[in-house]
Amino acid sequence: MTDVSTHCENDRVAELLAEMTLAEKIGQMSQVCGEPDSERLQAAIAAGQVGALINLVDAEAINQLQTIAVEKSRLGIPLLAGRDVIHGFRTIFPIPLGQAASWNPELARQCARVAAIEAAAHGVNWTFAPMLDVTRDPRWGRIAESPGEDPYLASQFATALVHGYQGDDLGAADAIVACAKHFAGYGACEAGRDYAATFIPENELFNVYLPSFQAAVDAGVATVMTSFSDLNGVPATGNDWLMRDVLREQWGFSGFVVSDWRSIPQLSIHGLTADDRQSAVAAARAGVNMEMTSAVYRNQLPALVEAGELDEAAIDELVAAILRIKFRLGLFDQPYTRPADLPKAGNAQFLDLAKQAALESLVLLRNERQVLPVDAQTISSLAVIGPLADDAHEQLGTWVFDADPDLCQTPLSAISRIAAERFSLHVARGVETTRSLGRDGFDQALDAAKKSDLVLMFVGEESILSGEAHCRADINLPGVQEELVRAVAQLGKPLVLIIMAGRPLTLSNVVEHCDAILYAWHPGTMAGPAIADVLFGARSPVGRLPVTFPRAVGQIPIYHAARNTGKPPRPEDVIPLEEIPARSPQTSVGNTSYHLDAGFTPLFAFGFGLTYTRFTYANIHVSSARVPPGATVEISAEVTNQGQRAGLEVVQLYVRDLVGSVTRPVRELKGFRRVRLEPGETKRVSFELTSESLAFFDRQLRRVTEPGQFHAWIGGNSQASLRTEFEVA
Ligand code: BGC
Repeated sequence: MTDVSTHCENDRVAELLAEMTLAEKIGQMSQVCGEPDSERLQAAIAAGQVGALINLVDAEAINQLQTIAVEKSRLGIPLLAGRDVIHGFRTIFPIPLGQAASWNPELARQCARVAAIEAAAHGVNWTFAPMLDVTRDPRWGRIAESPGEDPYLASQFATALVHGYQGDDLGAADAIVACAKHFAGYGACEAGRDYAATFIPENELFNVYLPSFQAAVDAGVATVMTSFSDLNGVPATGNDWLMRDVLREQWGFSGFVVSDWRSIPQLSIHGLTADDRQSAVAAARAGVNMEMTSAVYRNQLPALVEAGELDEAAIDELVAAILRIKFRLGLFDQPYTRPADLPKAGNAQFLDLAKQAALESLVLLRNERQVLPVDAQTISSLAVIGPLADDAHEQLGTWVFDADPDLCQTPLSAISRIAAERFSLHVARGVETTRSLGRDGFDQALDAAKKSDLVLMFVGEESILSGEAHCRADINLPGVQEELVRAVAQLGKPLVLIIMAGRPLTLSNVVEHCDAILYAWHPGTMAGPAIADVLFGARSPVGRLPVTFPRAVGQIPIYHAARNTGKPPRPEDVIPLEEIPARSPQTSVGNTSYHLDAGFTPLFAFGFGLTYTRFTYANIHVSSARVPPGATVEISAEVTNQGQRAGLEVVQLYVRDLVGSVTRPVRELKGFRRVRLEPGETKRVSFELTSESLAFFDRQLRRVTEPGQFHAWIGGNSQASLRTEFEVA
């Protein structure tokens, strides 16, 4: 955006504001949900009482309402039309957590681009995405929508997704307004229970929970949504510090803030305010420009301005930001959707992208005796078992309001095509749904397995078990699936689990019973062909975990960037619970920080993922052992493909700042590169660490790079052991 156009835009906004009545201003601050043919809605639009719609997805219906706004309302201000387009519209890509597992933000950008194009063709011009809540709690259902546990990885995805939705030019017909949500700290909800309060020290907020939002603001995100949650005693929707001091003053955000669904009236339910009147004041003062679906602004603001409790100038400021985005979106010049100008939803190219995204989201967690890839030439029979092998709906995941189920290709359909004349298939569901408690299908499943050379079991969680308000206290495989896995395992056939889920599950009860685990999240429309390609070796797995997998739910939160504690555990400290002698003295197991029944390591570490080849690391090099403050240091290492197949390695750089005025995490991700290597090939991969990338927020919330000793590791996951060190001095 040039200065000249910003200038014009500001002039046009000022001119418009000067003509608006208070009621019309408050109208712009209202986002309304309603049926397109509702006379009430149409009358409200004509009266200038509606600024935005929510949840209408029909281009014709939206165009009709837009005509009323543009031609019948006094000032002709066009409407925004918002919708949750979270991981695809008609064509569904992997859930955001799955996309994060690709460690390929550029691919996520392309997915967001396609989602925007499909949504724009249906009249949607505003999406409530990207969701940028870093979280370390897999019990939380919304981890499915999140970019995972790491602020650096999340920030890379934030930038990519904003560019994807908004395109290069927000005024283009295929661009839609993005919305960074939920501001802020939502992912720290206590006990992983949705909407629960959060307590986050301010410097931790800045170091962990806010970077992804700041990245979105830097990338030009036009809107931000408040979180439902209470942050340190002040619910986000009434939090002036967050929305004024941080978002606008410190970060220079110039777009607008929308509340979450009815989160303004909820301020009094939280107990921050006594009633709607106070809630309106709190939200407006905090800088919430638009209210989603509830009518607290509409009902309360007129009297508050009249009584002088809120200045009309403050309302003007809130409305101006909304109008500016409408201008930037080009709505005043072209308010209508012309679907014919945009590519058809679900076209072959979009499906190819969905397949690629699904492929890159798959994480191979276990592969004993190289049971994968399956050689289609040598097996004569294969069992496909499980409730998720052939369920088009359940492979899509949460937030798929507009998905086209007819586009879906399931794993069973893809495997059947491969089987064709080559080998026989024995199919059994085993259990009705992932939650079922009935065992009636076990016999059929065991029978299928007995008749087969190898067993593929599609288990996990149905879509409804993750997402908003769908939290779990027990994150084992639900229902009787564990039992089914163990029963099949008893037969001694090579057993591969393909797990679809909206979160990391605790897999300790099944991991030893199977030969391989391919973690598929909810892969979306093209789950089938993507999974089949990896299982049968047409493609190699490339995904890496964007979040730590606990052994047991009681370890949560467990994440790679934890603090060291004053009593860090060592592997030799951990004595299996049952081996502790009876009547042992109090200190006999050592006083270090671990769980007697789970140790201190995760089941699978952040950044982990196997491939069909093997990578080794050597010769780590630091450009300078003493780095002057402000200077850049280069860290590099050689990575070699030791296996027989080409493969893609996600080379990761971790850093530890040994001494800080605020203690620093034992490892922080500071960079990653995706590197393709032929068998036997070696490449040196290098990373630059600037002073900024070593900085953190201290107790006074100053961003500082403190002098001192640093360790740096390069490797294939967060437990990498190849280390070097340097000093900032
Ligand atoms: C969710 C938001 C979503 C909004 C609109 C709320 O319940 O928290 O993420 O964008 O609904 O559907």
